[in-house]
Amino acid sequence: MNNFIVQLLFMKTSSFLILLFLLGSAISTSAQKTIHTYSPNKKIQLHIEQSVDGAITYSINYKEQAVILPSTFNFKLNKPNLLLNKFTITAIDSSRVNESWKPVWGELATIQNNYQELALTLTDKNNTGIVLKLIYRVFDGGAAFRYEFPTQQNLKHFIIGDELSQFNLAGNHKTFWIPGDFDTNEYRYTTTKLTEVDVAKAQQEEDAILTAIPLAVSRVQTPLMMKTDKGLYINIHEAALVNYPAMHLLIDKEKLSLTTQLVPDAVGNKAYLIAPAKTPWRTIIVSDQATEILASKMILNLNEPSAITNTSFIKPQKFVGVWWEMFNGKSAWDSTSGKHGATTANVKKYIDFASKNGIDAVLVEGWNRGWEDWSGQWKENVFDFITPYGDYDMNELSRYAKAKKVKIIMHHETSGSVTNYERYMDTAYRYMINHGMNSVKSGYVGKIIPRGEYHDGQWMVNHYNRVAEKMGAYKIMLDAHEPVRPTGLSRTYPNWMASEAARGNEFNGFSRGNLPEHETILPFTRIMGGPMDYTPGIFRMKLDRYDRNKKNKVHTTLTKQLALYVTLYSPIQMAADMPENYEAHMDAFQFIKDVAVDWDDTKILEAEPGDYITTARKAKGKQDWFIGSITDENARIATLSMNFLTAGKKYEATIYRDAINAHYDSNPEAYLIEKQTVDINTVLSIAVAPGGGFAIRLKQL
Ligand code: NOJ
Ligand code: CA
Repeated sequence: MNNFIVQLLFMKTSSFLILLFLLGSAISTSAQKTIHTYSPNKKIQLHIEQSVDGAITYSINYKEQAVILPSTFNFKLNKPNLLLNKFTITAIDSSRVNESWKPVWGELATIQNNYQELALTLTDKNNTGIVLKLIYRVFDGGAAFRYEFPTQQNLKHFIIGDELSQFNLAGNHKTFWIPGDFDTNEYRYTTTKLTEVDVAKAQQEEDAILTAIPLAVSRVQTPLMMKTDKGLYINIHEAALVNYPAMHLLIDKEKLSLTTQLVPDAVGNKAYLIAPAKTPWRTIIVSDQATEILASKMILNLNEPSAITNTSFIKPQKFVGVWWEMFNGKSAWDSTSGKHGATTANVKKYIDFASKNGIDAVLVEGWNRGWEDWSGQWKENVFDFITPYGDYDMNELSRYAKAKKVKIIMHHETSGSVTNYERYMDTAYRYMINHGMNSVKSGYVGKIIPRGEYHDGQWMVNHYNRVAEKMGAYKIMLDAHEPVRPTGLSRTYPNWMASEAARGNEFNGFSRGNLPEHETILPFTRIMGGPMDYTPGIFRMKLDRYDRNKKNKVHTTLTKQLALYVTLYSPIQMAADMPENYEAHMDAFQFIKDVAVDWDDTKILEAEPGDYITTARKAKGKQDWFIGSITDENARIATLSMNFLTAGKKYEATIYRDAINAHYDSNPEAYLIEKQTVDINTVLSIAVAPGGGFAIRLKQL
């Protein structure tokens, strides 16, 4: 017992028993036991109760409002075959941590980690002697818990059949959800009451190529964002997903309850563990201010510090790529198509464009053999990651890029054949280093090999983490597409710059597209776990430049695309459109050239999930600020006070905003660029078009 800050109260027991508990002694009493603990600012209260039969429940209140009603848990082990649900509490420990740390890159220069911890040591009441620890951390902005299986006599190698952790809710909240598909998170969000979640309908309406079998149950993914009738915002997710499957949530509409459902492996088991073992943290972030949800650093704080000591190779960056032209039908990945995009000459054009405009890197997709054979999926060995197509001169391009001070970003599409990628990893990374490359965009399109494994299962979770770790050893940065959604692991592997793991801008290029509200929901859901490679910056909204029959289009205005560089946080940002489309709007492209990708400070000025977000960020090591503001399909006026600026200083504001008649559907490329001088006392009112947004660069004078 480290201190007595935790308030332990045994409601129906004597102070003698309290003392015994505080000393960590084993206690048996027939009475119900209750333990209360509070966040440092006391706004969040955690209550733990043990019922007479030994079940443990927790509940959470925020300023006296119920967030989680008493909720219990149990573990079903498949080996040994038993149920852990009733316990004897053999020790209670508490500790208080208040520390700060500096991320290698991020939204803030310094992050405060301030929480109260409570650890219960539990022994199975069914005489197996199995010991389990239940750790709670209560922060000012939320609470988290995890289970630990310490080293012990009676349990070494074991198999988790189920972890059923409950989140009993206090109402039928408004919920922003996507189906609990074990293989993909690339869905549109649906907003309904919890009891109106209709997963099968959302899957039927989905036009993307998905791999999963339609769901018969109401299962949704995390981060799950909810809003109560009283205006409380609640976000449920997990932190530090290591050696464990991802957690999805099953909805019980009658009880208004959520229960964890772990993603199974090919034979139906959930996790293979060796004691000592820990589960990820189950996180509940809560506030009556939506802006505070977006500002939360709880998930990062629950992850381990950097496993990489020399982080000097890790650099936030902007990049262009031989990429959107494939979505536009101008070119193709496959060299036998007759319109190969990744040719030596074409890549040189991108290198020239990047070099001229101060863009750090060029992504090249379709450079390697295999694309002619990758369709159809579930094929064993499509790519070897080291053999360029004949019209792609790797040595010449390495030389050319180096001379122009531009990096080429490697592309490793595994086509889901992960065993094949595992075989090639070392060879592939050495090949990159030998050709002057230190960043990879990876991809896991299609069903996973080994067959029967899911993208979100333990085997794949271990794969993604192994890739980040191995790339760290090779001093390589990672941007993973189609992985499990992030859980703050970029703190531990700061070379893991971003992931896709949600429906990106690319869906506008080949499907019915993203709704205008999509980008106002992502920061409250997917991005709670870590940066997203959304690929913003599309300037020509219709994709019919090279194919007049192509009907797909981007569902935003042009200046909303600029705002996304600020509102969707990531230390790597693509300028995703083709150079020819940027060349038509070089005045607006100036914002992409100027915007920072690493920050000293972040202020979420206003936010409402599904409706709007306005964010201001201060560039790392500079006095300049950047603001992004976006709205959904509804026009609005954003009113922003510049009270975050340095007193006594003047700033030149360059405002990129929607023209009066702009509209994401009918007139998306109409914008205005204005300049004005502002200071700490300025309040700006800016009109935002339906599906629109604005971006501001504030340069200190
Ligand atoms: C899906 C990725 O999200 C996309 O960016 C990539 O171009 C294709 N897969 C091909 O790897
Ligand atoms: Ca809305």
